[in-house]
Amino acid sequence: MTQYTPPPSVADGKPELYRQLAQSLEGLLGDERDLIANAANTAALLFTTLPALNWAGFYFLRGGELVLGPFQGKPACVRIALGKGVCGTAAARAAPVIVRDVHDFPGHIACDAASESELVVPLLRDGRVLGVLDLDSPVRGRFDDDDRQGIERLAAHFVAASAWCDAE
Ligand code: SME
Repeated sequence: MTQYTPPPSVADGKPELYRQLAQSLEGLLGDERDLIANAANTAALLFTTLPALNWAGFYFLRGGELVLGPFQGKPACVRIALGKGVCGTAAARAAPVIVRDVHDFPGHIACDAASESELVVPLLRDGRVLGVLDLDSPVRGRFDDDDRQGIERLAAHFVAASAWCDAE
């Protein structure tokens, strides 16, 4: 009989949850290099595994602005200028941004009125920003430093596993 492996749970503690998620992502992407396929599966894994999310997905830097990539959740704004919103801020700084309450973030772009908090990590290769990975939650204060660390690790694996040559 096949042994049942429970999905990673936040009850195990966030560091353990993200360790298991990193393993799942490595297995899921495998040797696949296609950027869109890998982004789509990464977004789906995060959205279906992490609790209390209403959006998970990518924006890619194209022609000097962020353009919507694969995601899970409600339809979202397609283009975000560098420095604008939480995504544009993370991309311009080349650093993650945790927003505990989106209503307190000047210039927050509300794609889904249900969003209360947000975590955006840049996709970095050799110090260059390729885009961002964005998570939204309907719960205020949903994201902390454990989430930031865990998502940065997953984003790094996604960047390393995928082919970027024709994406910019
Ligand atoms: N809230 C983001 C926009 C993207 S959506 O959340 C999917 C921002 O302020 O950049």
